[in-house]
Amino acid sequence: MLSGKCILIGITGGIAAYKICELIRKFKKKGADVKVVCTPNALNFVTKLTLQNLSQNEVYVEEFDVKNWKPEHISLADEADIMIIAPATANTISKIARGIADNLLTSVACAFSKKMIIAPAMNCNMWKNQAVQENINILKARGIEILEPESGFLACGYLGKGRLCSIEKIYGAVDEALNYSQILKGKKVVVTAGGTVEDIDPVRYISNYSSGKMGFAISDAAYQMGAESVLITTKNFEAPYKIIKVKSAMDMQNALNEEFDQADYIIMAAAVADYRVKEYSKQKIKKTESDNLTLELVKNPDILRSLCEKKTHQTVVGFCAESENLLQNANEKIAKKGCDFLVANDISRSDIGFSSDDNEVTILDKSGRIKKLEKASKQVIARQILEYIHG
Ligand code: CTP
Repeated sequence: MLSGKCILIGITGGIAAYKICELIRKFKKKGADVKVVCTPNALNFVTKLTLQNLSQNEVYVEEFDVKNWKPEHISLADEADIMIIAPATANTISKIARGIADNLLTSVACAFSKKMIIAPAMNCNMWKNQAVQENINILKARGIEILEPESGFLACGYLGKGRLCSIEKIYGAVDEALNYSQILKGKKVVVTAGGTVEDIDPVRYISNYSSGKMGFAISDAAYQMGAESVLITTKNFEAPYKIIKVKSAMDMQNALNEEFDQADYIIMAAAVADYRVKEYSKQKIKKTESDNLTLELVKNPDILRSLCEKKTHQTVVGFCAESENLLQNANEKIAKKGCDFLVANDISRSDIGFSSDDNEVTILDKSGRIKKLEKASKQVIARQILEYIHG
């Protein structure tokens, strides 16, 4: 079940390090390629030779033990499909949360952009420490899965929460992450992102504050979950999948029409301008003696609505940004647009939504069901949205 997968295990200096030998055996039995990176202190609890024999690979500890042109921390991060840090000490957790990269393990973690699972183990008072808890919350908000420690007798003589969770639990989380990450395999997901730009003249335009971040997170997550992602956006963005750069609402509609038939999911995270100028001025509009200037605007097509009208097998998801009466407006909007799901954003809050890295959304479906996703990074929210609409 894990063949073809490369699992990177980071071991830090805690007594539970010896338990990871069993985890490596389990992964190997299922056909995974296992790479182990240790902090120097981990080797006080488990030997390099043991880990090397079990993983059937070299064990990495030293940061500057360079064997080829590519630094070890980059090649290890590039090769692995998933990284697990277990046991993770308070020290390593806090360093990763704050972006400190002062040994090979923390450097790999810093360079790692795929799924990461952290299983902490420490004294119960250290676990309760406010700084550690704050750092755990930072990691969670970034989409890193934390397998909370369990309660019981601790090696330090205390009774409390701090024991490494079971090896079965870590194995299960990895198995689920690697298989679950492919739930969109064979599906085409088309995502729109960013605010459209409606030109007035060669130097002026009408647009909005949408950063595109939520849409980027969704197209990235869809790609990571195995989908053929297509991103239609007004912003500059780089990704290993097809990106169609557009400007106006009309351009966006044309691009969507091109992609529509083959798509399984259409996710309209873009903030489409409702109006454009009736007549674009080829020359720069000059200031006149008058105190007023009137621009005549005409309605842009409601792209979401037009897609919903012609959809066959596609699941169409709209977004709505509301500054008041979120649920009432969202309910009216889903009925008006005819989409399968509507993701509602409260833009009256400054800590989420436009330009922010976090979001908190409510998903409505056409049968009236409501699902609230608690505040988290846009990456986490993106995965949760895809998981929810996929069912
Ligand atoms: N949308 C669209 N075409 C438009 C306007 C909006 O496809 N001309 C899509 C957006 O991409 C989004 C959804 O419709 O997925 C809702 O956008 P929103 O601006 O909240 O809706 P509007 O119908 O424009 O309503 P409002 O009067 O609140 O702006």
